[in-house]
Amino acid sequence: MALLNILHFPDPKLRRVARPVTLFNSKLKNFVSDMFETMYEAPGIGLAATQVDRHIRLLVMDVSGERNAPRCLINPELLQADGEEESDEGCLSVPGFYESVTRAEHIRVRAMDEAGEIIEFEASGMEAACIQHEMDHLEGKLFVDYLSKLKRDRIRKKLVKQKKQGTLS
Ligand code: NI
Repeated sequence: MALLNILHFPDPKLRRVARPVTLFNSKLKNFVSDMFETMYEAPGIGLAATQVDRHIRLLVMDVSGERNAPRCLINPELLQADGEEESDEGCLSVPGFYESVTRAEHIRVRAMDEAGEIIEFEASGMEAACIQHEMDHLEGKLFVDYLSKLKRDRIRKKLVKQKKQGTLS
């Protein structure tokens, strides 16, 4: 197990589009373990492979307050998306900033698990928002893209400054 280094906005590597996972082997399982360890340690409720500079379609999440409901989604797709819900979002790649984002309220998801088995389920509320946020990462998209240019530029400037000063957590 190892902690992985998380990229921070505005790192251009966060803009890469991830490719599908085709090989389900022990190396992938080890990577998934490292992803969970990194997410829990941060701490965060979701982490996409893109954020640790691995450009494959894989994300981990745990939206339970108890941190006992780990879920890994590989090659995830939205089969259905209904309704709208606005909630505050943060991101381990945009540390210290929380802004309101509107997402589909209810979604139906198809993905694969670590063993390559297909899973299909419905999600709503915070779980649905988290899945949509993490799936955006796989497309090179960040939650700050939903904000005004003014807000996004303000966040970018602050993070660039913190990175220079070495105070970025
Ligand atoms: Ni994020």
